[in-house]
Amino acid sequence: MQIKSICCIGAGYVGGPTMAVIAKKCPEIQVTVVDINQTRIDAWNDNNLNNLPVFEPGLADIVNEVRGKNLHFSIEVDKAIEKADMIFISVNTPTKTYGKGKGMAADLKYIELCARQIAKVAKSDKIVVEKSTLPVRTAEAIKSILDNTSNGVEFQILSNPEFLAEGTAIQDLLNPDRVLIGGDTSTIEGKQAIEVLVEVYKNWVPKEKILTTKVWSSELSKLTANAFLAQRVSSINAMSEICEKTGADVQEVSKAIGMDSRIGSKFLNASVGFGGSCFQKDILNLVYIAKSYGLNEVADYWEQVIIMNEHQKDRFSDNIVSTLYNTVSGKKIAFLGWAFKKNTNDTRESAAIKVADNLLNEQAFVAVYDPKVKTKQIYQDLDYLGSRSLEENKKYLEVFENPYDAMKDTHGIAILTEWDEFKEYDWEKIYHKMKKPAFLFDGRGIMNKKKMEKIGFVYYKIGLGDS
Ligand code: UDX
Ligand code: ADP
Repeated sequence: MQIKSICCIGAGYVGGPTMAVIAKKCPEIQVTVVDINQTRIDAWNDNNLNNLPVFEPGLADIVNEVRGKNLHFSIEVDKAIEKADMIFISVNTPTKTYGKGKGMAADLKYIELCARQIAKVAKSDKIVVEKSTLPVRTAEAIKSILDNTSNGVEFQILSNPEFLAEGTAIQDLLNPDRVLIGGDTSTIEGKQAIEVLVEVYKNWVPKEKILTTKVWSSELSKLTANAFLAQRVSSINAMSEICEKTGADVQEVSKAIGMDSRIGSKFLNASVGFGGSCFQKDILNLVYIAKSYGLNEVADYWEQVIIMNEHQKDRFSDNIVSTLYNTVSGKKIAFLGWAFKKNTNDTRESAAIKVADNLLNEQAFVAVYDPKVKTKQIYQDLDYLGSRSLEENKKYLEVFENPYDAMKDTHGIAILTEWDEFKEYDWEKIYHKMKKPAFLFDGRGIMNKKKMEKIGFVYYKIGLGDS
């Protein structure tokens, strides 16, 4: 079987970029990305490429090249399902906010709705591919729904977890470290379905980088990869606190340990805390799975990665308060960055949200500048926490289009995201427009301490102790 038509349900941070790259690399396949959110689909179809709903370096060029040729964005979900030989499910799987597993388990509501819709609409055999991050054994649940609700149509379910990181999504998709495909390796049909997806990726990924496994190994590998990556960040963040107390420099420690080839140099940047849609959600998921099997020690072990991350965010805001003479009430603090990392407009679980919430609780005024995040999103993020009314958030937090305006007349500046442009600012000019002493809290370790102190700033860098 050769794939002629792909449908992807969910036009988000994963579905959009992934399908754009598949369309670019497989010109003979028609790719349709569908979503129930009309505004999102309109944005994907916008002639002005600056209005695409996802900002990723390199994405707009690819969309421009293939959109309208073999890449389409639509809200006609049923039509796209019916036409497709292969359906990717790429919808959101947030942490449950209600009922059993609240705050831990993944909410599979959207996945189940997709499965039921596919079953209802499909008139010919389909390969259904899980792209969203899911708990182990979700494929089994999808299969059960499809087999029991469809009209005699055959489905094969594959797990093909996405390992792209936001900000580098296009590069990660074009040159993946590996592609993982899990399927039912116990049947001929299952093996054939795996091969069909392997053929799609072989259009641009070397064969030796395409791994095939049984479906549960694939699902669990995604959670494990994210848990290991997040654990490295929490580990180095734990060391950052020791460094600050003992007078060491965490960046020197990172470099020294990263040169050990057994450890490796990546994911050792101390920060104000990790964010993003995956790390926390996947670890909570892992903790929930471990607990549900009675593996309490395993659950506690992984939960500690989250506890450390929460501590790192709180520690950062506590330090701002204590440095500003134990009160920030009525003081203005500028935030450089709101996104959870540079080169993305995504703010899910961003450390900035928690740090802002803590400072607003202390009655500070917060002035935010982020090169890519929209004002509406910032208020939505705060609103979601529910600590204050929208009116109060609007009174105490202001979003600026221009960084210099945001930093004017502030008591302190906090760097929350490592956007490259922050390093290029005219810091002399910024210093002169601030209240004195002028405090700079570098939550990403991107500025040079000596240079900042020479200008006059009282400078704090995460993980850098006084020597
Ligand atoms: C992650 C995984 O990397 C990716 O494989 C998976 O598909 C989805 O989850 P993402 O969340 O997009 O990707 O970004 P990532 O680069 O992993 O960063 C996550 C968070 O960790 C960010 O807030 C980042 O700033 C932080 N981080 C990362 C650090 O604080 N220090 C580091 O050294 C690396
Ligand atoms: P991710 O980071 O996993 O891509 P996003 O939240 O960015 O997550 O995107 C998920 C998308 O899936 C959203 O645009 C949402 O509207 C869409 N979605 C959720 N459920 C359905 C559904 N049943 N049919 C179509 N689209 C859906």
